Amino acid sequence: MGPVTDGSSAFSDTNWSDCHQVREVRDSQAPCAAPPGPYHRHPMSSSSSISPASTPPSTPASSASNPAPNPASEPASEPAAGDAAKAVIDLRSDTVTRPTPAMRAAMMAAPLGDDVLGDEPTVQALEAKIAALLGKDAALYVPSGTMANQLAIRTVCEPGDEIVAHKDSHIIHYETGAPAALAGCMIAPLDGAGGLFEPAQVHAAIKPKDQHAPLSRMLVLENTHNRGGGTVWPLAQFAACAAAGRERGLHVHVDGARLMNACVASGHAPRDFAQHADSVSICFSKGLGAPVGSALVGSAAFIARARRFRKMFGGAMRQSGLLAAACIHALDHHVARLADDHANAKRLARAVAEIPRLSLEGSPESIPTNMVFFTLDARLGGAQEFCARLARQGVAAIGMGANRVRLVTHLDVSAADIDRAAEAIARATRSN
Ligand SMILES: Cc1ncc(COP(=O)(O)O)c(C=O)c1O
Repeated sequence: MGPVTDGSSAFSDTNWSDCHQVREVRDSQAPCAAPPGPYHRHPMSSSSSISPASTPPSTPASSASNPAPNPASEPASEPAAGDAAKAVIDLRSDTVTRPTPAMRAAMMAAPLGDDVLGDEPTVQALEAKIAALLGKDAALYVPSGTMANQLAIRTVCEPGDEIVAHKDSHIIHYETGAPAALAGCMIAPLDGAGGLFEPAQVHAAIKPKDQHAPLSRMLVLENTHNRGGGTVWPLAQFAACAAAGRERGLHVHVDGARLMNACVASGHAPRDFAQHADSVSICFSKGLGAPVGSALVGSAAFIARARRFRKMFGGAMRQSGLLAAACIHALDHHVARLADDHANAKRLARAVAEIPRLSLEGSPESIPTNMVFFTLDARLGGAQEFCARLARQGVAAIGMGANRVRLVTHLDVSAADIDRAAEAIARATRSN
């Protein structure tokens, strides 16, 4: 039998509050222990799931033969492709992970069909699994997080409608203006530290029902919040904002590209967040380590309508079970280990906090998930210049703003890589 699993997989038994507790125990070890390897039984995995501790750490040889691509949906201020390709520790994004050997084996073993003709068993298994996990009726497998968000918007909104979202949202900054291009929508941007806001702001942003105003149709909550620093929404605040939107008739959509990071960090189950929303997008190709794919989840009627737009947008695929199998594998084996990425981010943040001329955002212990942001002293030049210098020291990072740099931990970097990266960052501050 192929890798198709039903809802009773190892993953559905994940104890979310245990994830959180174990993470805190691990965090209290300073410095955090290097993961046992190369394969270990993760302390948070169920007894049946043996998961790779991490894929082999990046080596100069492997990076040279398999250069890291530029993540297209990420910010503009990247190191030049040549510099990034030379870098051996790739902290640009958690999208850069390569499928593990076990994931590749699962892909090769997947039973396949034609998803457009409605008989792709592995895609259907993934859709059933993720819908059950989020406590919704149905799900739709799509090529990317951008497509999942844009399908949600197109499914709900008409030209001239307005979406309420944080001003630093991914849908505003990194989706190529798609809400305007594909659905004809405006966005009412909200302020708030870390990509979060308050229910009163939602109420204030909703336009009066008047012929002069756009129709406020949708509220988007991003969790974790990328530009906000990998922030996790406190559940009560999340629920209150969602309730504010729903009370006023808005469709609440969660951009949950990294929802599993939020769950592992907070100890809440995915459905604890999803129950307050009408739709959720979730990515398998970020921290979860699958090569391709996201899902849009919601009511049966919503997903049936979204399916039509997926076809229209060119996102309906055929033997896509090959890819969906990687996503099922990721859900079964790569969720609880996100705690390792979070511990590594704190480890990295502790080192960055000690480097002169760099200002870490927040304190190392307050790093919420797998992202570390710092700003550069003016003497170090701009973010782009610094990232190019850093790439020459063997680390790839991304500039997110004129003098703001982002580092992301993931499945393909170990604690030892983090220590090497920290040394390289310190060298880059001295080499200008
Ligand atoms: C919060 C968030 N939403 C959506 C996306 C889009 O995902 P994709 O790159 O698969 O289109 C990203 C990508 O980084 C993201 O960070």
